[in-house]
Amino acid sequence: MIAKLYSDYVKSDSRSFESDKQFITAPIYYVNGSPHLGHLYTSVAVDILHRFALLFGESFFSIGTDEHGQKVEQSAQRNKCETQDYVDSMYIEFYKLMNAANIKYDAFVRTSSKKHKDNVLNFWDKLCKKGDVYEGAYSGWYSTRDEQFYSEDEVSDGANGKIAKISNSPVEWLEEKCMFFKLSKYQNILLDYYKKNKDIIKPSSRYNETIGMLEAGIPDLAVTRSRFSWGVSCGEGQVIYVWVDALSNYITAMENNVDYWINDMIHIIGKDILKFHAIYWPALLLSADYALPKRIYAHGWWTVNKEKMSKSLGNVIDPFEILNKYGIDQLRYCIMKEMSFGQDGDFDHERIKNRINTELANVIGNLTQRILSFVWKEYEETLEINSIDENDYELLKCWDECLENSYSAMKEQQIHVYLEEVRKAAAKTNQYVDGAAPWKCDDANKRRILSVGIECIKRMALILSPVMPEMSKKILNILGCEINIDSWFKSINYRKLDKPSPLFSRIIG
Ligand code: MSP
Repeated sequence: MIAKLYSDYVKSDSRSFESDKQFITAPIYYVNGSPHLGHLYTSVAVDILHRFALLFGESFFSIGTDEHGQKVEQSAQRNKCETQDYVDSMYIEFYKLMNAANIKYDAFVRTSSKKHKDNVLNFWDKLCKKGDVYEGAYSGWYSTRDEQFYSEDEVSDGANGKIAKISNSPVEWLEEKCMFFKLSKYQNILLDYYKKNKDIIKPSSRYNETIGMLEAGIPDLAVTRSRFSWGVSCGEGQVIYVWVDALSNYITAMENNVDYWINDMIHIIGKDILKFHAIYWPALLLSADYALPKRIYAHGWWTVNKEKMSKSLGNVIDPFEILNKYGIDQLRYCIMKEMSFGQDGDFDHERIKNRINTELANVIGNLTQRILSFVWKEYEETLEINSIDENDYELLKCWDECLENSYSAMKEQQIHVYLEEVRKAAAKTNQYVDGAAPWKCDDANKRRILSVGIECIKRMALILSPVMPEMSKKILNILGCEINIDSWFKSINYRKLDKPSPLFSRIIG
């Protein structure tokens, strides 16, 4: 065994990560129904990407509620409420979900707020001044559920009338006088732009889908409605189309710092709202003279028993219930690990339980508990890491690789790849402890092995802090470390450890 000094290893291996900045957005949620697993998933994904970026640099995270439009107005009527009272009460449910899931946003935009409505009018004014808005009349198939028009070939006959092929939502024939946005003017500009910048829309299947839509041609967009009034009025009995209203929430969120954040915009969305973010929004941004998003990442959909979640099937997963049942950190980890970010996945309670028991309780929890309680029981101070041998060195290098690989994966929003990197490094550390068997060693070797173990646990807690913030805080508090990437190579402040308590309980039954 070749002995090395830990301080030499740190000197030769510490690396610097570019300090970046990002403005990352979650979609704003319709308030016509209670939050479900899909809303939880998008929010947690963005929260993780945001907290991860904060370890290295600056990040600003916006989220909110989409409170206008006919769909919301109709829900309020069904509930026999004033629309504003209805949206106020539904907003609370989403607000509560953010707290329940430990979502650390910087801005929460409600589209019925005065601040947002003023912003929409300001944005609208820019489109009009550009000469991109004109008066016309529209006739076509409209789906209130999807809040969009469909063309003749996008609808088919359903059991109770026409439906949109893509969503199975009922559609009705609608004719109205309205204002149009010159969307078609931006078709070739966007097509050129995306062909030159192939990595803006991800994953690549969504990029291809966008190119396909642009190549098929995009007609001008009806951007006002007169059949209802719940929205931002732009005069003459017209309200601004709910998607123009909703998309501009991203500008509202930036408040007075638009210039600072606009070049670093990353939108995380579900695949169903790709067209709005990859075509409508960039065209609107170009018209209003703003920069285009740096990244639009569309994730997949959760199904339950391979079926779409829906109220009528009674298979909607209540996010509060599962957070309560499995624990906040545990569920955040599991839903992100369950499916590759970008693909669809099926929600299954057995698989969640299994993952908690095997990956969290058996690997991460067990490793932490055995090292920390060993040190706590046997030593009056934590153990200073000093000379290390070849195996120790390799293990520490494996964590450095884990950091590098996680960093690259997260630059590409590959959350599941990053989580697997960490799981692998944790499993290796568990094997190392089993192999080194500190309980059988003399004091000098015991101190060396445990000090390396503590160093690995610190790193594991740091790198998992975006996903499991409470668990990480618990470990890092015991070790007296701050949650930022400098702590990775910084020695721990040595003192007697606080008594550790188990991180995760196994789920039985
Ligand atoms: N209000 C619009 C977004 C406006 S953004 C300017 C909207 N709202 S939504 O409440 O219907 O959906 C919000 C997000 O939840 C979307 O990204 C959507 O893809 C996501 N999900 C809704 N159901 C989902 C699943 N079953 N699975 C995963 N995510 C899904 O669209």
